[in-house]
Amino acid sequence: MRLCINIDHIATLRQARLEKEPDPVFAASICELAGADGIVCHLREDRRHMVDRDVYILKDTVQTKLDLEMAATDEMVKIACEIKPYMVTLVPEKRQELTTEGGLDLTAAEFRLTPAIEKLKDIGIKTSLFIEPNPDNVDQSLEFGADMIEIHTGKYARLTEPSEVLAELERIRQTASIAKELGIGVNAGHGLNYHNITAIANMQDIDEVSIGHSVIARAVFTGLDTAVKDMLNIIRRIRQ
Ligand code: PXP
Repeated sequence: MRLCINIDHIATLRQARLEKEPDPVFAASICELAGADGIVCHLREDRRHMVDRDVYILKDTVQTKLDLEMAATDEMVKIACEIKPYMVTLVPEKRQELTTEGGLDLTAAEFRLTPAIEKLKDIGIKTSLFIEPNPDNVDQSLEFGADMIEIHTGKYARLTEPSEVLAELERIRQTASIAKELGIGVNAGHGLNYHNITAIANMQDIDEVSIGHSVIARAVFTGLDTAVKDMLNIIRRIRQ
């Protein structure tokens, strides 16, 4: 299972003072040197953490693969088409939210997603849709022409009642399994940390996880290299 590191919160710290440091471009290189399989960054409409300059430079410096998270707006599709990252993950975005709050509403989003995916695919950018764990969403993602899905694990991460945790894990497992059967790539992410990653890493149908906050938070105390390696060690103990 591949580990991709979301470096948004390096930029959050920089933007707190509108200074030059810490630079997410530098962070991406450290993550890659520590063994990360990819770098994820979310360019938000309000540019609260990553800014355009970051994504343009990352496209040139990232050695593994760059996953640009974004809303399916005309502005973002234009930027993605200029930058040409390895892949784009389309997410819903609300100005007031602290972080992405859930998967795409695929029924409501149709009018935006279809032209966005077509434009991205036309120039060879792989497209992933961030979805709630529900097998119907996999069928719809395929209809939209997505190459991959990213299963939202945020609800699983927040639940504490064991029976609810198990039920949510089962929904994630079923969604991943159906996506695998249909031949679509399966990623997962949001809210994953050094504890709750174990159950996700045990799902053989999940190809890749995208993790940001917990790794960057640990890095404050251990350094980024160690924080990435600690996560990789947990994953590799379970999956090769
Ligand atoms: N996947 C998606 C689609 C996200 O929006 C985010 C947060 O930016 C993540 C994964 C990473 O979540 P976290 O920071 O909670 O690890």
